Amino acid sequence: METAGVQLDPMGALRRSHDCGALRADAVGSEVVVAGWVQHRRDHGGVIFIDLRDRTGLLQAVFRPDASPEAHERAGALRNEFVALVRGRVARRSDETVNPELPTGEIEVIAEELRLLNTATPPPFAIEEDPGVDEAVRLRHRIHDLRRPPLQRNLELRHRLYQSTRRVLAEQGFLEIETPILAKATPEGARDFLVPSRLQPGEFYALPQSPQILKQLLMVAGFERYFQISRCFRDEDQRADRQLEFTQIDLEMSFVGVEDVLAVLEEVTVRGCREAAGVELPRPFPRISFAEAMARYGSDRPDTRVQLELVDLTEVFAGSGFRAFRSAVESGGIVKCLPVHEADALSRGDVDRLESFVKKELGAKGLAWIRVTGDGTWQSPIVKFFSEAEQAEVARRCGARAGSLLFFQADEAHRVNGILARLRQDLGERLGRVDGRAWDPLFVLDFPLFERDDEGRLTYMHMPFVAPMEEDLGLLATEPERVRATHYDVVLNGVELGSGSLRNHRSDVQRRILELLGYSAEEMEERFGFLLGALDAGAPPHGGFAFGYDRFVMLLAGAESLRDVIAFPKTQRGQDLLLGSPSVVPADQLDELSVRVRLPKAKGTS
Ligand code: AMO
Ligand code: AMP
Repeated sequence: METAGVQLDPMGALRRSHDCGALRADAVGSEVVVAGWVQHRRDHGGVIFIDLRDRTGLLQAVFRPDASPEAHERAGALRNEFVALVRGRVARRSDETVNPELPTGEIEVIAEELRLLNTATPPPFAIEEDPGVDEAVRLRHRIHDLRRPPLQRNLELRHRLYQSTRRVLAEQGFLEIETPILAKATPEGARDFLVPSRLQPGEFYALPQSPQILKQLLMVAGFERYFQISRCFRDEDQRADRQLEFTQIDLEMSFVGVEDVLAVLEEVTVRGCREAAGVELPRPFPRISFAEAMARYGSDRPDTRVQLELVDLTEVFAGSGFRAFRSAVESGGIVKCLPVHEADALSRGDVDRLESFVKKELGAKGLAWIRVTGDGTWQSPIVKFFSEAEQAEVARRCGARAGSLLFFQADEAHRVNGILARLRQDLGERLGRVDGRAWDPLFVLDFPLFERDDEGRLTYMHMPFVAPMEEDLGLLATEPERVRATHYDVVLNGVELGSGSLRNHRSDVQRRILELLGYSAEEMEERFGFLLGALDAGAPPHGGFAFGYDRFVMLLAGAESLRDVIAFPKTQRGQDLLLGSPSVVPADQLDELSVRVRLPKAKGTS
């Protein structure tokens, strides 16, 4: 790239007087200095037009040979993405050249001086709203990608949300405190990222999956209200709403109950939406219990704008003649139905496509259905197996009527709910069965403390430090699975924005829970000794929460992927295509860390 023509101090004493996007008709006649990148250059019969772009928008600069022959000549050498500074006078555009699409479209700057601040390689794609290229190309050329208006807007919104969060929490007496990144394993249910220690050969730090334990220690240490906009690291499989490295608004409070925390969460959410995006959320947030959310929506993060609801039919089919349903119930599963009324828009072909979708993509065993035709008869591959009593009960519970289409799932509860929840959302959106609210905030409460893993062992539902509800404490000894937790989630438009709980501040309850989770006394000491010791050192009752910051911004920005609200995100395969990370490191660096690499054998080699 030939940049020799660019002076070392090309701006000299000239400084910007205005942002490109800020100029309007009231500036006509004034002298301005603007700077930015060349979006586009057009030559029209000797007159050169430049669209100059800075982060505030586009502005047209006009170079006429008669206004300044020198500037005009230099403008002829400008190319897309060259960096330039223009001094000139603001003029009104003629009526026929006004551009109503552009906020600065009524004016232009008649250039009197042009300074080339730098040249640029040709951009790999157009710096526009939609550059029409694959995401991989955008990520590899992230600098150009970040110059595009949607990403500039998203990162500005992200900035405004940081400011709002800090303002609101500081107003409420929270202190911003940093916790270490080189830390120790914190159980949030994902794999840890490990960092080898040079000074302690053979030992590793773990990057925090969240500051959970540390913020609890800060409560014991007497800080009472803590927050941090914290980076978290979780080595888990990537999806559009997950990154290996992400940000939380993490907070913790002492001397509180659930209601005190919820009040803060509502305030942070409402003010964040207002101050970052001008969105007004309805208050107070509606509340729903975990049990009700699962029963009606099959999900603990329902989008309640979708008007379809599930119906439980487990009892009805407990002794059914239809083997698929009966055997699901016999082996501890459930049967549920998603009734869709006035469903004529769904053809038989649509139903077949839905069936193959749920089987292929969601692991469903099938998708039984019943259609009630105009004259009230039932069309279905399965109804011949139903007794009359079963038919009548299905009709009653599902409100079946002419035009209804009923979808059934019989399987383990989590699978039935997962599949029908997905169908509910997809069909609800496709058939327009949504109420008109743009924003749907929700508190989900009363989660169970434990659940069973695939091998039937008791495991924590969220994390091991969640306090049980006081009134369920007695059940810990007898029926732990029925113990409800003080856990709460904030859900916005069907996305889990964040979650939190009151914590065990009594070490005896914490030990009891760790015992139920299968930790021996030694393991407990080894993994959580410092926490248990801290609880014994005078821990106040405390509780807190963490918002998924990237998800919050993604929702407010209307973005489809977390990658569009993170400056330098990682791909689904955990790579940064711009930096080329992760990457191989030199052997002497590994030696220094006492680390040896043993690659897995490639498939097919012995
Ligand atoms: P949890 O694990 O639920 O709770 O995390 C809180 C919120 O963080 C977001 N989140 C993620 N965002 C992007 N990529 C990921 N991989 C990812 N994982 C989680 C979600 C989630 O709701 N210590 C507890 C909080 C507490 O109890 O105070 C915790 O980390 O939006
Ligand atoms: P079959 O008796 O396996 O031929 O299934 C009859 C109908 O029931 C088909 O439409 C299947 O898709 C559906 N079906 C089978 N098993 C299940 C199940 N576990 N849950 C829901 N539908 C099922």
